[in-house]
Amino acid sequence: MVKSLTSGLEVAIYDVIFKRKSIRKYDNSPLDEDILNRISEELNNLIPLHNDIKIDIKIISGEDVKLRGMKQAPHYLAIFSEKKDGYLTNLGFMLQQVDLLFSASGIGSCWQGIPSPKGNVLKSSDLDFIILIAFGIPAEPLYRDDTSQFKRKSLENITDIVDAKELLEPVRLAPSAINSQPWFFTGTKDIIHACSNKPNFLKAILVNKYISIDAGIAIYHLKVSAEHFKKTITITFNKDKTIPKGLNYLATLKLDSAD
Ligand SMILES: Cc1cc2nc3c(=O)[nH]c(=O)nc-3n(C[C@H](O)[C@H](O)[C@H](O)COP(=O)(O)O)c2cc1C
Repeated sequence: MVKSLTSGLEVAIYDVIFKRKSIRKYDNSPLDEDILNRISEELNNLIPLHNDIKIDIKIISGEDVKLRGMKQAPHYLAIFSEKKDGYLTNLGFMLQQVDLLFSASGIGSCWQGIPSPKGNVLKSSDLDFIILIAFGIPAEPLYRDDTSQFKRKSLENITDIVDAKELLEPVRLAPSAINSQPWFFTGTKDIIHACSNKPNFLKAILVNKYISIDAGIAIYHLKVSAEHFKKTITITFNKDKTIPKGLNYLATLKLDSAD
């Protein structure tokens, strides 16, 4: 069942973090044209992390995708970006807005690092192709029953901030490529530095692209959580001297009480 796809679903978006899951089985029938048009509109309203990086998102059909062993979905978002500092984190931050919106609207979706679009799609943008997101009417339960069904690291393994359990729980539950959860949040509950784990040399060749996208996804979950707790957020990009070794600094989120 596809519910209305509209903006202003802040409450539902926060709630959906606690039950969303990747959907890999879809009903073959395409979504209504009207829903696809509304998705296109939403794609124009995504909030960037870095507002100087061009990004282009196309809705394509399953026929236009080389599946490489993955199941076909009726629709995909093909995401293209300019390659500038921070572009992958920016992309993760922006497209996680869509993943959560899909889930809140009754649409199944799954980030897809392995498949790639066919040549006609690749030629359709001036920007570089980065990743796909599959979506459609789910043919499996859309939600988890409760958070015990998430396979995730414990909070102590993704942060050294001790007094922000509720704030950081949505970050802990964020999705990531091969569920590697390669993020670490350090600082204080009011000034939080978002970092990714530095992989070793060999692992880096395989997963570097995904680590930065994953971290952008987690940063978006933190923004949703902070707003739920009525904080205003300022995001800056100046590496703090206190960042522990072994981490790649990505961004600082300053949280202030809204009133
Ligand atoms: C950047 C990225 C790439 C992913 N690529 C794939 C993929 O190629 N195939 C797939 O089945 N799942 C893929 N996933 C989904 C992850 O496996 C999934 O998010 C993770 O295992 C956590 O499960 P959940 O999303 O159900 O909570 C990807 C996720 C992310 C964030």
